[in-house]
Amino acid sequence: MPIESSAAGAAAAPPASPRTAAAAPALALPVRLGHLLSLDDFEEAARRHLPRPVFAYISGAVERNQSLAANRDSYAQYEFVPRVLVDISRRSTAAPLLGRRYAAPFGIAPMGISALSAYRGDLVQAQAAAAGNVPMVMSGSSLIRMEEVARANPDAWFQAYLPGDEPNIVALIERVRAAGFRTLVITVDTPVSSNRENNVRAGFSTPLRPSLRLAWDGLSHPRWLFGTFLKTIALHGMPHFENNFAHRGAPILSQDVVRDLSERGHLDWQHFRTIRRMWPGQIVVKGILDARDARLAVDHGADGIIVSNHGGRQLDGAVAPLRVLPQVVAACPDVPVMIDSGIRRGSDVLKALALGAKFVFVGRPFNYAAAVAGEAGVRHAIALLQQEVSRNMAMLGVNSLSELDASYLRKAGA
Ligand code: GLV
Repeated sequence: MPIESSAAGAAAAPPASPRTAAAAPALALPVRLGHLLSLDDFEEAARRHLPRPVFAYISGAVERNQSLAANRDSYAQYEFVPRVLVDISRRSTAAPLLGRRYAAPFGIAPMGISALSAYRGDLVQAQAAAAGNVPMVMSGSSLIRMEEVARANPDAWFQAYLPGDEPNIVALIERVRAAGFRTLVITVDTPVSSNRENNVRAGFSTPLRPSLRLAWDGLSHPRWLFGTFLKTIALHGMPHFENNFAHRGAPILSQDVVRDLSERGHLDWQHFRTIRRMWPGQIVVKGILDARDARLAVDHGADGIIVSNHGGRQLDGAVAPLRVLPQVVAACPDVPVMIDSGIRRGSDVLKALALGAKFVFVGRPFNYAAAVAGEAGVRHAIALLQQEVSRNMAMLGVNSLSELDASYLRKAGA
């Protein structure tokens, strides 16, 4: 199967559902970005393009970045055992998930304030995902109203950070439902804010506090300053946190560095039960690392689990999701188990699937892609990852992702 080189998606994929973009005309990547050959390349391009504090916010994690590093290492700990002389000419990267059939087994993970790094960042991700027929999860910690993103991609998922009290939870969930989202992701690994020392050192805060240093960081990155930040203010006004609550939150740039992150340390499964009763669609619980919690989530009505340590951005030293994936899959055979944190290559995607994941999510690289090249960049990143998945399926001797199992892997050095 010659994997298509257009960013539009998969020859092997079914047509996009009638509710998504019907056709995906190719979007040209600027010539200056022709050297972007892998997801890691986008990181380097974004490092140059973005002011230091903005890049630090996206790329950084917490404390000693131990989980961030462990996420990458966990994939290197497995090696493939390929099969040969299998006719793979009709292989397909298509992947079913929660009643839909996507073009590839990966989607765009939720990322806060994506519209600070890329002009209309959440919309760009949502449109590229619709064009490529992969899922996109919009973060509640975003600067574009959820209603706009739902209009741009009616199949987008919404990821909520729960407000700390029931009336606000109920109002937020009502708004998400009215906006038309059908899949709700509840992130459960943020009982308190994590220790983002790297943000403080790089001069990043939310909201951003105006300062001479921040002004210089902006002025020394004119493509971002004019093409993203000032363009946003000129055309859409000062961005605000739009979706943490049913109502609008703080502006992104403010003297008062107090963001309305409500205290949610007291939340428990009782609150999840309330949401389950209210939400008519699918609920995915994200941020689980212990198989017992995964089972509890399913027993409380979750339709899917995302095994995640939040890209290493919450508890430093938290186990890499890949290491606990098989236990979570064994504990929850009745729902799709998904994974994120550390996936950068098609080979990583296939390792996760061989260990039982039904689907994976990738975050930072799609944010970088949106920052450096907008929708064309995200489409390019989706296409690169899909091509890697397809090429590696061929070299593993696999026609369908459902054929993958642990027999295709062994522990390095074992
Ligand atoms: C938001 O979810 C973040 O990790 O910064």
